[in-house]
Amino acid sequence: MNIIDGKLISQQVKDEVKAKAAKLKESKGIEVCLAVILVGSDPASQVYVRNKKKACEYVGFKSLSYELPEETTQEELLQLIDKLNNDETVHGILVQMPVPEHIDEKAVIDAISPRKDVDGFHPMNVGELCIGEPGFVSCTPAGIIQLLKRSNIDISGKECVIVGRSNIVGKPLALLMLRENATVTIAHSKTKNLKEVCKRADILIAAVGKAKMITEDYVKEGAVVIDVGINRNQDTGKLCGDVDFEGVSEKCSYITPVPGGVGPMTIAMLMNNCLESATGE
Ligand code: GUN
Repeated sequence: MNIIDGKLISQQVKDEVKAKAAKLKESKGIEVCLAVILVGSDPASQVYVRNKKKACEYVGFKSLSYELPEETTQEELLQLIDKLNNDETVHGILVQMPVPEHIDEKAVIDAISPRKDVDGFHPMNVGELCIGEPGFVSCTPAGIIQLLKRSNIDISGKECVIVGRSNIVGKPLALLMLRENATVTIAHSKTKNLKEVCKRADILIAAVGKAKMITEDYVKEGAVVIDVGINRNQDTGKLCGDVDFEGVSEKCSYITPVPGGVGPMTIAMLMNNCLESATGE
């Protein structure tokens, strides 16, 4: 069994982005710039935003930070987005989710210019992904493809089962795996015989948000197992994935740990999306 080291692979991606950003600055005088907006003071979101700003610093991007109070109105937020859409020195705009309840998440996503939507959440980018055209791809699914490719795992022709159908992970990941010529199944909470469906998978991807739900009896001998879950144990405070690592690692050929698997790739791919926005690739 091989452990896929997401920390190491994300570091490689960030170092590649860093080198390209330096070149862009030197050859064209362009400094890549990401605007990060956080509304309210959700502690988990504060950590994510801090890590995104730290990553910008590491790869040599400028980051603009907007930490707005909980009471910020939708109108005020949309005005800020509009200003950033029209600022040509800004290449990426990211509004950390979730936004407070009085703000309509869809209105926020729709307001971000698709050309600066480095999260890949805008319907236009989702549509481009669906028809196989260039556009920004959601960072976690894009990171999973990189983990597989950089571990020399063949995707073409493989049975891929994704458990979870979110707009951010399950659905875009299914489209990406299809683009890589996998045979793709999306399973979810209403799927019948989930164990049997999962057991068909050569590549099993768990993105459900239920701690240790995927036990060894969901896994075919020799399968590749990717764990997208980030669950915090109520008693110990420790992070754990959707996969029961101890049991499943006995049976699979490759597995991603939590933490240190998929998680670090999300920010690395965000940096890559910002770079592509600035270079126009
Ligand atoms: N909240 C949880 N994950 C994400 C993400 O990838 N992007 C944004 N903007 N918010 C999130």
